[in-house]
Order: sequence, then C-alpha cells, then structure tokens
Amino acid sequence: MLHRFNYPTAITGTFLFLSVLCKGQDRAVGNYDESLRERVHFSPLKHWMNDPNGMVYYRGVYHLYFQYYPGAEVWGPMHWGHATSNDLVHWKEQPIAIYPDSLGYIFSGSAVLDMENSSGFGTKQEPSLVAIFTQHDPQEEKSGRNDFQNQSIAYSNDGGSTWTKYASNPVIKNPGIRDFRDPKLTWYAPAKKWIATLAIGDHIGFYSSKDLKTWTLESEFGKNAGCHAGVWECPDLFQLRFQGNGYWVVTVSVNPGGPNKGSATQYFIGQFDGHRFEALSDSTKWIDYGPDSYAGVSWSNTGNRKIYLAWMSNWLYADKIPSQGWRNSMTIPRELHLEKIGTRLFLGSLPVAELNNLNKGPVDLLKQDATGPNIHKSIQSPFLLKLKSKSDEDFCLKIKNEEQEWLLIGYDHHSNRFYIDRSQSGATHFQPDFIGRSYAPRISTDSTLSLQILIDRASVEIFADGGLTVLSTVFFPTVPFGQMDLSLGHGKSWTQIDYQPLESIWKAND
Ligand code: FRU
Repeated sequence: MLHRFNYPTAITGTFLFLSVLCKGQDRAVGNYDESLRERVHFSPLKHWMNDPNGMVYYRGVYHLYFQYYPGAEVWGPMHWGHATSNDLVHWKEQPIAIYPDSLGYIFSGSAVLDMENSSGFGTKQEPSLVAIFTQHDPQEEKSGRNDFQNQSIAYSNDGGSTWTKYASNPVIKNPGIRDFRDPKLTWYAPAKKWIATLAIGDHIGFYSSKDLKTWTLESEFGKNAGCHAGVWECPDLFQLRFQGNGYWVVTVSVNPGGPNKGSATQYFIGQFDGHRFEALSDSTKWIDYGPDSYAGVSWSNTGNRKIYLAWMSNWLYADKIPSQGWRNSMTIPRELHLEKIGTRLFLGSLPVAELNNLNKGPVDLLKQDATGPNIHKSIQSPFLLKLKSKSDEDFCLKIKNEEQEWLLIGYDHHSNRFYIDRSQSGATHFQPDFIGRSYAPRISTDSTLSLQILIDRASVEIFADGGLTVLSTVFFPTVPFGQMDLSLGHGKSWTQIDYQPLESIWKAND
C-alpha cells in the first residue's frame, strides 16, 4: 500500500536527528510488564515495529532484524532494529543495526552467511554476513519519480552486530517501477549462485548473482497466480523435502486481499531450476488465515530446518492498537513442512519445538478435571493448549475475564471451518476494520481433530491438524483473561487436553 510510505514532512525532516538520538540507546520508556505486552512473543521494548528482516542463524545465534522506527509508535523512517536468541524463544533486543542514509530509509530485506566469501567482504576462514535490503528514497518519491526504491547491500564481520554499507550501492537499480522491494536471498547450490527474490508490484522477479554485488534478472513469476487484490510484498524462496523429493516453495505477502481482510501471506509449491519457478498450481493458498500474520519469511543458514516468522499485525489497524509505548509483536517462530491431502500438496507450520523450553510443567486436564465434555478452569496467559477429539464434532473454547470480555475459539463441523471471535474481547473500536470473527477452512480430512492453541496476553495462534490450517489473531482485553470454558458438543469426549503454562521470556531483560 503505497500511501503508507507518504510521510508528513515534519517527521521526514527530523528523522536524522532522531536517528542520532537513538544511537545513544534511550531506553527511558517501554515496559516489559505492561498488561498488553506479549509474554512469549518478541516485541521491541518501545516504539514501532513491522516486518521481520535479515533473519540468519550464525554461530549458535538466531538474528532477527526488523522494520523499526525509533522515533514514535507509528510507522516512520525505517531502520533495521535487531534482536538475538539462542533458542528462538528468549529474545534480547540489541542496538539498532542499520540506519537510513542519503539513499533513503532501510526497508525490508534479508541476510545470509556468505560461506564461500563470494562477495570478498570477508575471508574464506572468516566469512561475512551479507544483507540486502530496499532503500526507499522519500524525496524522490515526493518528486513524482517512479524509481525511488532500489536494492542495497551491507556486510557484517562481527557476527551481525554492526554493518558496513557497500560503497557502490545500490546493487539492483529500479527500472521505473513504483513497488520494487523486499529482496530475499537464497543460495542455489547446483549453479553455485545467489538468487534474490524481489516483489515487483503484482509479481515476483528472480535475480541471480555470483558475488552478491552484480545482479541479472532471470525470470518473473506470479502475474496470473494467487491473490492479486493488493500489492505483493516480502517474498521468499526455499526448498523443502517431502517423501524423498525436493520441492521449492515461494511465499509472498499481499496487502490488502487477505482471507479475513487486509494483510496476509500466500504460498505456491513447485520447482525452481535456478532460472524459473514453475508452480504445481496457481490457486491461492494461505500460510495463515488469520488477520494478524504478515510479511513472514524464513531464517537462512538453518540446514534442513525451515523456520518462519511473521509480523503479528495488519496494516488496517497496526498503528492504532492500544498498547502503551510500543507497537506490534512477531508471531511465534514456526517450523515449515509439506503435507499431502489427496493429490494436493500443502505447506504446514507448527510452533518450533523450542517453545517447550518455556513449559512450566504440563497439566493433563483429562486425568485431572474431566468429568464430561465441558471443562472450566482458571488460566494464566501465556499457555499452550493441546487438544484432540473426533472431527465430526463442534468444539468451543471461551476465555474470559471479570470485565465481561471474552474471546471465542472454535470449530464448526457443519461448515468445516475454524473461527476466532474477538468482537467482545476488550478494545475493539479503535478501527472499524478490526473485524469480530475470522474464519479458516479445515483442510485435513482426518477423523481426528488435533489442535495446538497458543494464547498470550494479546494474541491467539491456532495450529490445526499438524499446522495445515493456521489462524492468528490479536486482541486487547482491559484486564488479562483468567478463566476458560472448553466444551465439545453432544456428549462426545476429548482424547487429549494438555494445558501447558508458559514462562515469560522477558525475565532476563526486566
Ligand atoms: C511490508 C512493507 C514492505 C516494506 C516495508 C516498509 O509490510 O510494506 O513491503 O519494505 O513494509 O516498512
């Protein structure tokens, strides 16, 4: 959505001043104990965050950079914020990694380990991390030109803490297209070359390079595939194996046009030969049906594991959510896999196994409380609920507080859909598009319904049927939800109800 990037002159004029200010690590405001602060999801201590960027694993550290405006709690001149983790769940915010410069703001992009020193920025023994990102020039945009988004690179020789911009930026010049951004790097081993996957308005461009500096356009994909109700942003390209065969997956976010209004991320499964991507099907498939999962991409350098993380918000209302001093969280990191239903392949995602590092000790509610299909229990978020029942039955989970606010999560067997209803969940009127009820189709045909439901202070993520259907939603109760009612229709019974209370990840930072 281009109009997002049109900046009030006053803010544009002061952004350099603010950047300088923030180099001094002003941490005066921001509070990890705030009641709407997510306890197991990453969010910046203060100010504005959108897309995850530059995710790379190196020497035991997962790096998460992100679109960050250190001057306010709304979108502004973009920097790359930075956080690190040893286990994908405990995050430590680090100093800002990349600042805007005369070529523009630092928009979304990616980072890799240049393991063969193809760029020459490091050595074979001590290779560099190399990042590629869009530089968005607000002055050029204002002047009415179309070529104000170009791709630049930077390298880090200290393991991702500090970055040096390449002297001959930009490396991919804009051919005159207004939406030309968000490069994602992939190593294509058979030809020993890098691929940069770029969002170009209504399609994707694949560029190739031997040295990360000189790029050639190989091909385009997507003009006639998937959802085109909005502009394409933040693509990814990676390989996954399924039953002994390798497949390539392209993911790309679209805004607006999501299945529950606004922003969402779609995917295509197919083959990539180093030049072209051929999808097995052009139909629209969503990684996550919820209104609050956008701009998701995967970590690089994680071997056979593909780990994905998205921004847990929606451009329809991201700048109006009622948190204090900071805005927007990331989803839980998710491990991706392929799965076949009938003859069709799907991309599934589940919370990373490391989430279990936060488990305070599971409680088996079947053994403990279950006297029938209905369970009432006091709860404390964050927690993970693992449920199993027969799939020919509706289920409903209500979480509520003493302010008469509630959130409803369920499955309607008749329409074969999951849903989350946040219409009475607390603050909802800050934006008319903060819709009450979101839906997601059940894709699995299995006779057992299995669910993982992750509930934090201000979000719920449903992973149904091993992550074939995912639905993520944020909500803002005036006081935390403290009670749950779980019910299954018509006297049927659960075969699993595990309640896992989770530890807050912020202890070390508090
Ligand atoms: C996606 C996006 C990207 C862009 C960035 C700017 O949410 O619009 O396309 O690079 O945000 O912050």
